[in-house]
Parts: sequence; C-alpha cells; structure tokens
Amino acid sequence: KGMPHSTADDLVLAEGLKYDVLIRWDDAISEADRFGFNNDYIAFVPFDEKDPTDGMLWVNHEYLHELFVSGFNGKDRSKKTKEQVEKEMYSVGGSLIRVQKKEGQWKPVLDDPRNRRLTAKTEIPFDWPEPILGSTTAIGTFANCSGGVTPWGTILTCEENYDMFYGETDYSGKTPKRVRDFDYGWADHYDYPPEHYGWVVEVNPLTGEAKKLVALGRCAHECATVHQTPDGRLVVYSGDDHNDECLYKFISDQPKNLREGKLYVADTEKGQWISLVYEEQPVLQENFANQTEVLIRLREAAKLVGGTPLNRPEDIEIDPLTGDVLIALTNNKPKGDYLGQILKIKEADSATKTSLTFEASTYLAGGEETGFACPDNMAFDTVGNLWFTSDISGSSMNKGVYAPFGNNGLFVVPSWGEHKGQVLQVASAPVDAELTGPFFAPDGETLFLSVQHPGEGSKSLKALTSHWPEGADQAPKPAVVCISGPALIDLASNMG
Ligand code: FEO
Ligand code: CA
Ligand code: CA
Repeated sequence: KGMPHSTADDLVLAEGLKYDVLIRWDDAISEADRFGFNNDYIAFVPFDEKDPTDGMLWVNHEYLHELFVSGFNGKDRSKKTKEQVEKEMYSVGGSLIRVQKKEGQWKPVLDDPRNRRLTAKTEIPFDWPEPILGSTTAIGTFANCSGGVTPWGTILTCEENYDMFYGETDYSGKTPKRVRDFDYGWADHYDYPPEHYGWVVEVNPLTGEAKKLVALGRCAHECATVHQTPDGRLVVYSGDDHNDECLYKFISDQPKNLREGKLYVADTEKGQWISLVYEEQPVLQENFANQTEVLIRLREAAKLVGGTPLNRPEDIEIDPLTGDVLIALTNNKPKGDYLGQILKIKEADSATKTSLTFEASTYLAGGEETGFACPDNMAFDTVGNLWFTSDISGSSMNKGVYAPFGNNGLFVVPSWGEHKGQVLQVASAPVDAELTGPFFAPDGETLFLSVQHPGEGSKSLKALTSHWPEGADQAPKPAVVCISGPALIDLASNMG
C-alpha cells in the first residue's frame, strides 16, 4: 500500500519498511579516508557471485554545500582560502567501501585495504588515442551524479554538472572563451580545463583504478546504462541532463571494450539513432577538425546532425521483463513542462539493441493523478518492479504547482499483483533532500538508497532547515541508508 505525501523532516517510509543508516558524510571509511558529501549513485559489486552478502560498494559524491564542507558562507568566492578549496575538492568524486551483511544488517568493513576515495585531485587518464587539450590525464572527477555497472563488474560514474567546478568553454566565437556563470571558485587556486570533465569514468572497484571514456562523448552525463548484446558487445545509453539536450547511445565494436565503437544521438520524433561518427557526417566535417573535437563538443555536434532536444533526460533503466528502455525526463520549465514523464523506447531489435530505429512513447506522466513530479533515478528490483525517485528542486518544493506533492519521494510501480501498473509512494525525504541512487542488493532484500542534500536551503549553521539524520539541533548530513522489511519481500515474492 502506498503512503501519503509528507513534508516532515525525516525519511518517512510506508508501512512494512524500515531503514538503517549505513554511512554518513565525513564518517571514516578507512584510517586514511572519509566519506564524501552529497552521495548519489550507488552500486554494489559482490566479490563472488555465489555470496551476495560481501562486496564493494561504490558511492558517487556529486557536489557540495560550502557551509557544511568548508565553512565558506559568502558570495565572493575569490575570498575562499586555498584550505577551504582543498576541503571542497576532497568532498566530491566517489567512495569505495567494503560492505558485508551479517545477521541481517549491512555494515561497512572499515579495515579493508580496498576502501578508498576518488576526489577532485585524483589523476585519471583518458582512454583515448589522442590527448584532450594537450593532456593524456585529467586531475580529478566531480559532479558524479548517476552511473552504471559493466558486465565485467566495473563501475561507470558520470560527470554531470561539471561547469559548477571550473566553468565551461564557449566555442561560438572566433576563439574559445572560458565562461564562469556559477562555480565554486576553485579556478583561482587550481586551473584545470573544463574539457577534462563531463565524461563517463570507468572505475575498478577492487583497485580504484579509473579512466575517462572519451568515446562516450562529453556532456552533463546523468548516467551510463549498459546492455550486453548476445554476441558480447556493449550498448550504453546516456542522457545529457540539461534543458533541451539529447539522449545518446554508444555501440561497441568489440566485447569488453568501451573505447572502439560508434556514438549515436536520438531523433525521438522519427525514431532514429543518428550517427555522430566524423567520417559518416559531412556536417561534422564542416564544423569540427576530427572525431576528438566532436566528442569534446558533443552538444553542438548532436544538434548539427538533428538530435532531438529533450526535457532533461535523467536516469535510464532497461525493463528486465519487456526489454524496453525507460528514460526519466524530469522537467523543462522554460518549455512549460513542470512535472516531467518517463519516456519509453522500444528498440526495433530489442534483444541486441543495436538497431538504429525505435518507437518512443510516454510510459508514465507526472501529475496529481499519478502522484509524482520530476522523475529522476530508477531501479528495477529482482522481479521487475520499477522503483523511481523524484527530484523537485529545493527552491520549488511544496510551492505552486509542486505543492500537492510534498517533499521528494521514492515510488514503486509493481509489475505484478493487484496494484500492477499503479504508482505507489513508499518513502518521503527529509526537508530539502532528494532520494537518489536506488540500488538493490543481489538478494533483493535490501535497497541501498542515498539521501542527498538534506537541509540544502540552510542559510547558516544557526538557521538549519533540516536536522536529519541525527535529529535534535544537529546539522544535516547526506547519508546512505539500507531499506528493508516485509513490504519489500512481499513485493518481490508477489509475482501474480
Ligand atoms: Fe544530478 Fe541530473 O541529477
Ligand atoms: Ca540525478
Ligand atoms: Ca536530478
């Protein structure tokens, strides 16, 4: 049964569900390292397929709140000290933590030597034959929003709103120009080129070894969702989460290789995947020097070949029961789309997903009838029920058109039983927070979930809008929780 919307400063759950906090911002993850800020995408990779209760947990740390991380609370970021910048650089990227389930409870294993952090200072090579703006490596990863897991057990972590860190390059004039609309002011202490960010990054969870996958292009990647074809090649879907930006698909030439292959952009009106391969597109040859430049300036290239501007493509999941590809289109306020939808793509060849034609339709629309607005992250459980979270922005939540929806939530759409196809709310987030990164443990009995940016609207440490998870007068902390309980087990055992 679903629960009513809530505006409470708590992680409120539907009947039959409970949560335990697994790890919070700034908790130790090893002797050397601490958990980062604003946890988002979560992936669990077991050490051994036969033992789903022990493995590495990867967690993205997307962005930071200066007040909580560095104590900076001003408008003029050129006044930020180098020490404050260092703290902020350490708070983003990702965490690798061994977790183990014992007596029904997941716990971090803090003395495991594989626990480590990737941060805005980690040196990461580009997986590409040519340097990117003169360099074969980038310093750091950040804006890590959602992601994916490869069939060989590596993590794909996606650099989304990278322009908040070192700005962006505007290529529209005669000479490229750095644009800094809003950023954290790090560039006053460390100046790295924007072109080194906005990539999908592949991480080995056992070693922490990482590389930036240039072949998948550069944009505000929300996620990277991998499908393996029957002959072992890979199809990777990724959306560019920005108003009027596009949906992409990469098809690899070889198994276990995300470097050689072809990138396509979706024309959702004609139902076609359009090639972004330099040699195949005269319009790309007229506007860019080579394939590397096409990949760096992917947004421009996508528009030139006829990619359809979409309403902020967020997370993507493949329905295990139908093979359909679901894409959360969260909203596009300038276009009058406030509530968003989940788009469904039926590939002409659903088994391989390598075909270049598809049918697009609305799977679920946001609205008071369905009870949700602004869909974002999605996950299918072990029996194919769809779970998704909502991302109503902090400044809009509980106001105007969003008033009926309460705080951000977690929803389930059962694929079986009497509630089949209905949207049921199962969790409500603390004040200002967003629930992100839903990921099911392999046994289906635990849902790992991020509670991101509780109390984001706090103007000072004396005027906090949330005290979650510690309560009383404590400052809020982003945290990863484990959701479990009989309601979850019921859903997973009720297959009609
Ligand atoms: Fe970081 Fe598009 O959400
Ligand atoms: Ca997201
Ligand atoms: Ca979002």
